[in-house]
Amino acid sequence: MINTQPKDTCVLVTGGAGFIGSHTVVELLQDGYEVVVVDDLSNASEKVFDRIDQIVGDDAAEHLTFVRADVADRDAMDAVFDEFDIDHVIHFAGYKAVGESVQKPIEYYSNNIGNTLVLADVMRNHGCKSIIFSSSATVYGDPDSLPLTEESPKKPATNPSGWTKWMIEEMLRSLVVADPEWNVVLLRYFNPIGAHPSGLMGEDPKGIPNNLLPYVAQVAVGRRDAVHVFGDDYDTPDGTGVRDYIHVVDLARGHVAALAWMDGRTGCEVFNLGTGTGTSVLEIIKAFSAACGRELPYVVEPRRAGDVTANWADCTKAREVLGWQAEFGISEMCRDAWNWQSNNPFGYEG
Ligand code: UD1
Repeated sequence: MINTQPKDTCVLVTGGAGFIGSHTVVELLQDGYEVVVVDDLSNASEKVFDRIDQIVGDDAAEHLTFVRADVADRDAMDAVFDEFDIDHVIHFAGYKAVGESVQKPIEYYSNNIGNTLVLADVMRNHGCKSIIFSSSATVYGDPDSLPLTEESPKKPATNPSGWTKWMIEEMLRSLVVADPEWNVVLLRYFNPIGAHPSGLMGEDPKGIPNNLLPYVAQVAVGRRDAVHVFGDDYDTPDGTGVRDYIHVVDLARGHVAALAWMDGRTGCEVFNLGTGTGTSVLEIIKAFSAACGRELPYVVEPRRAGDVTANWADCTKAREVLGWQAEFGISEMCRDAWNWQSNNPFGYEG
């Protein structure tokens, strides 16, 4: 049966305690969906659920269930699908540290690909064939031309984390080829940053951040001395790398828009989720300095292996088909990231 109302629709969110997952859970609850989160908390804190309650309020929070489990645990996943009448799955759960993936390829391939295979099999066995997958602009590799559209070619990934995104996309496409009842949406994120405007939820990486924004935020709050700029000799206006940064709340809303659109459909569709605007590393440091009210120090270092010069999205398809577009700009992204970091200097466990 096709459900057309959020209140009749149950969404399983794997990795729902993580950065993008938790923001998506908030948007789903605020729209009236029933939400089941499966997360093993291997890279997240259970405290995020108190924050979600505070943001959405007790009434909406009653529609959220948390199950602590590994998505690769077939018995646990069978139990979830037995207990809840899941209509759609949003699949975030996976390892994502690029550098670590180079050191631990077996762990990355077996976890990310293995858990997706278990999930898809359990879904099929329970007659749930609708899934949104958390993919990445990393599948475009080093682009020949910009902006990137969904038709831009996939290029070889530069690390195992990227390859798992690349391969899981193909695995999910294969499901649709084999069984046209499947309903698959691949969302290719550009660079998600920012935090919930409430200051209650944000990015909370363990150890030294690999990504630019959490590193900049930790410099701003005094946990690190200076930002390391990886290369200022790129062929870009100021010589530093250019990316399409997108506010995590916009990204979360992109999932809700995709969910509403895909209800009752079948097939496989790909959407870029970005803003369509490129911003350099130095522009980010400047914008964050304005947000926190202090010139943030930086040092220029050699290029980081595997980095591309520039990428940004053409978001026409998401706008025209899903009716979604990003609303926040870089200053709001930095404002909200700073609000989160200054209120929670050591993250959820601080
Ligand atoms: C990285 C991953 C990408 C993943 C994304 C998730 C790589 C090669 N790619 O994207 O697969 O989907 O994170 O958010 O790692 N930079 C600095 N100093 C830093 C950190 C980064 O100058 O301390 C620069 C980088 O060179 C780049 C830009 O900042 O130009 C953004 O880097 P980052 O935040 O790590 O994201 P990506 O590399 O684009």
